[in-house]
Amino acid sequence: MSQTASVPQGLPMERDAGPFDPPSQITRLREAHPVSPMVFPDGHEGWLVTGYEAVRQVMADTRFSNRQDVGVIHVPYETPGMPAAAEPSPQTPGLFISMDPPDHTRLRRKLIGAFTVKRMKQLEEGIVAITEQQLDELAKLSPPVDLVKQFALPVPSLVICELLGVPYEDRETFQSNSSKFMERDITLEDKMAAIGAMFGYLTELVTGKRATPGDDILSDLARDDDLTIEELSGMAFLLLLAGHETTANMLALGTFALLEHPAQLTELRADPSLMPDAVEELMRYLSVADIFYRYATEDIELGGETIPAGSTVVVSLLAANRDPHKFEHPDALDVHRKVRGQVAFGHGIHQCLGQQLARIEMRAAFEGLLRRFPTLALAVEAREVKLRTNMHIYGVHELPVTWA
Ligand code: HEM
Repeated sequence: MSQTASVPQGLPMERDAGPFDPPSQITRLREAHPVSPMVFPDGHEGWLVTGYEAVRQVMADTRFSNRQDVGVIHVPYETPGMPAAAEPSPQTPGLFISMDPPDHTRLRRKLIGAFTVKRMKQLEEGIVAITEQQLDELAKLSPPVDLVKQFALPVPSLVICELLGVPYEDRETFQSNSSKFMERDITLEDKMAAIGAMFGYLTELVTGKRATPGDDILSDLARDDDLTIEELSGMAFLLLLAGHETTANMLALGTFALLEHPAQLTELRADPSLMPDAVEELMRYLSVADIFYRYATEDIELGGETIPAGSTVVVSLLAANRDPHKFEHPDALDVHRKVRGQVAFGHGIHQCLGQQLARIEMRAAFEGLLRRFPTLALAVEAREVKLRTNMHIYGVHELPVTWA
């Protein structure tokens, strides 16, 4: 291998190229070896996939199993105390993101109706209302304020709580536990304690819904006798977590990115009809859910390499979305770009179930924020903004903003 692209020891995470760009080692690696060997911190060898075509191939090929995680987005080898997987992981009931067909198919199918484009369109008005209400609350505050706490986190949390039928008053429980669960460097013990607390809470909730169902997605699932309480809790866990962490980080990091690209921001403000394309471009450019793990169930040819059966394969969606072989000037944020084929929502059978919901939330939130706060600005220097390099979903911990 060339000197500029040596085998990575662990996953490069430091954002040395700037807060929005992939680590420079990842970019160099993609150019030299889009499918590269890597060594995990425990000495175990695996593969890192950074090229667009190869990433799509991995995600489209079910011989790369999703049973690499123990719990959603739970990352082996990075979590201190985590034993190395020698075979596909045991499955947690209901967590279909970490399952393969036919188990994955059976559970995902039960939710498809609730997340269709048509169903999401019907919910749009309610989502806009929630967003406007949060903007009213924001406008009452005296700046500087933390946009994460006051806007980016509440909007998707309120939306997913209402959809699922989770009381928003209980948000402290799920927000603090899911945030612990999302930390990279937390011990296995602490991670398991956070998962245990979430499951305890959700098991009680879905048991109540099975006894007295209401008008929400979890109640609809609870009416289905084919699903056990354990499966219902696992599905609730996945939906609740996936439904607020990702979108919240897109809203906060997306706002930061727009503020740091004032010419793009001005153009977007001048022509709000650009918003749907701009959201797609922000998804591509930021790819906050970057790293995903797969497990090779047999020897598989990929990008001129043979991935041996039993290997851990890591894909970087951010690297794929910045691949110059796919996107022109990939490192430029361009709100006029007509993005096609970006992979920030994944690809293949696990492609994001909530993508239409997320798009509607982001369009409403960015549109409302830019309209209601025409003088929005960072309240600190850009380099002082705390980046979530220690979390599974990237973004900012806080975004201090101000307005005139
Ligand atoms: C799956 C990203 C919002 C629910 C995924 C995957 C990605 C992703 C990359 C694929 C995982 C894999 O292949 O292993 C995002 C991003 C979002 C977002 C960037 C926000 C901007 C949402 C929302 C929901 C949601 C709002 C609401 C319910 C799910 C579920 C899966 C999933 C249930 C698992 C699908 C499966 O395994 O079949 N998401 N997501 N996501 N997402 Fe999202």
